[in-house]
Amino acid sequence: MDIVGFSSFLSFNTVTVAIAVVLLILVVSRSLQNPANVPPGPTGYPIIGCLPLIRNRNILEVFRELRKQYGDVFSLKLGLNRMVVVNGSEALREAFVKRADEFSDRPASFIIRDIFKNRGIGTSGEHWKHTRTFSLSTLRNFGFGRRSLESRIQEEVTSYLDAIEKLNGKPHDLKDLTVQAISNNICSITFGNRFEYTDEEFKRLISLFAENFRLNTVGGSTRSFPWLRHLPGNYFNVQKQVKIFKEIIGFVAERVSEHRISLDENSERDFIDAFLIQQKKRGQDDPLFDDMNITVTVMNLFVAGTDTTATMIRWAILYLIHNKPIQDKLRQEIMTVVGTSRLPSLADKTDMPYYEAFITEVLRVGNIAPLSVPHAAKKDIQFRDMVIPKRSIILPNLDSVMSDPELFEDPDEFRPERFLGQDGKLNGKEKNVIAFSLGRRVCLGESLARMELFLFMTSLLQRFEFLPESPNKLPSLDSTLGLARAAKDYSCRAVKLQ
Ligand code: HEM
Repeated sequence: MDIVGFSSFLSFNTVTVAIAVVLLILVVSRSLQNPANVPPGPTGYPIIGCLPLIRNRNILEVFRELRKQYGDVFSLKLGLNRMVVVNGSEALREAFVKRADEFSDRPASFIIRDIFKNRGIGTSGEHWKHTRTFSLSTLRNFGFGRRSLESRIQEEVTSYLDAIEKLNGKPHDLKDLTVQAISNNICSITFGNRFEYTDEEFKRLISLFAENFRLNTVGGSTRSFPWLRHLPGNYFNVQKQVKIFKEIIGFVAERVSEHRISLDENSERDFIDAFLIQQKKRGQDDPLFDDMNITVTVMNLFVAGTDTTATMIRWAILYLIHNKPIQDKLRQEIMTVVGTSRLPSLADKTDMPYYEAFITEVLRVGNIAPLSVPHAAKKDIQFRDMVIPKRSIILPNLDSVMSDPELFEDPDEFRPERFLGQDGKLNGKEKNVIAFSLGRRVCLGESLARMELFLFMTSLLQRFEFLPESPNKLPSLDSTLGLARAAKDYSCRAVKLQ
């Protein structure tokens, strides 16, 4: 290189470095900027924000400390995202119920945009509103919360209990069986059929849900730095997640094609048929009823409705093992109201206040969605005397209500009696158990989940006694927090009652 070439090379590099430094300063200063009036919170570090504050720590504990320091609505930067956390009944209701128009959107994500093509219940705005309304009314027609669905669930309960009975009271982790049984309820509603627990295709589907559940975390790196997905390699599991979703979508799409071939417009068999009949009327171009919206919506029901209820059943069994007197009292109620000659049915529920108190306490302490599912601000929101900036992620901190010692004395203790008055009936405190969230995005499957929990738990208690693996080895009550707060894996013995 001659001297001219060298000097131009040098000046080119000087310019490049200068541009890089200016860009870096801009990014750093932007990441440290706190626009006026944003909800208060810790400052954090350049670029990464407050990630170190929550990384490898119990995020719920961190949020409890931040609430004490900054009040009911605080915010923190995670990467380039601002996360606003809403705490306590009053602020939660003010935001998500009274001001639902502004607080009901979901964050945009490349998975929703690129993989789901902006379809399904995870979207925002008009598309979400119509898809949710159509889904909910279709599910109601199929008996959500009604008797007609009851017999389908009871059929599944029978298969589930028979499979457990075959274990002969030996120590076993009931996780896979429970996920399969609960998933089969969604299969019955959406596909019109259940699968045998040994079916290989079904087992594969279940393992995909489990993997998605494990990979998808609230503090996950790619939520804070979406561009990490462009890096080579698969350090942040993004490609893995995309692959999982594509495979689930492929599975559901096949079922949609099969349904189309055998569709009879005068005889609606299931959820997919209901969509396809509308598609025939309105044409494939209507984004509410095109194949992608059917497929992604069905997938949403599986993802939202399988591991959630199954995780809650695992918490319920865990607390039964830890609290033998509570288990005995519940069984006593079942024996008095139902006996042993038939399965418990929904009509029994009103006569079983102790069950209601028990399951309410499981929903509270199990606390499987302590931060609900993230919401987002689609524009600047003026809230109290603060501004929640456009594109902020908004977390309804349900845990701040359900673990509040002012509302629930000794909140860490498992005590169903706290929900019962002197007359043995519910005392009203159950209203503060907001495990299904609140407002317009409230869990779409709440009545199905409550139905499943009742039919599964009472039938389990009617047939089995639940014991720890060995008399002096109680399973841990510790949890892991992925997409949901789940009990760590544990084995137990389900011994058939004589
Ligand atoms: C014990 C079991 C369950 C719990 C604790 C639970 C809890 C929740 C929570 C906290 C949300 C987020 C609400 C928000 O954004 O603020 C949610 C949303 C949702 N849940 Fe559930 N859920 C359960 C079972 C089910 C079941 C069985 C289904 C089945 C269909 C289901 C379907 C959905 C759907 C589709 C959404 C999204 C609603 C929307 O974005 O409009 N869930 N659930």
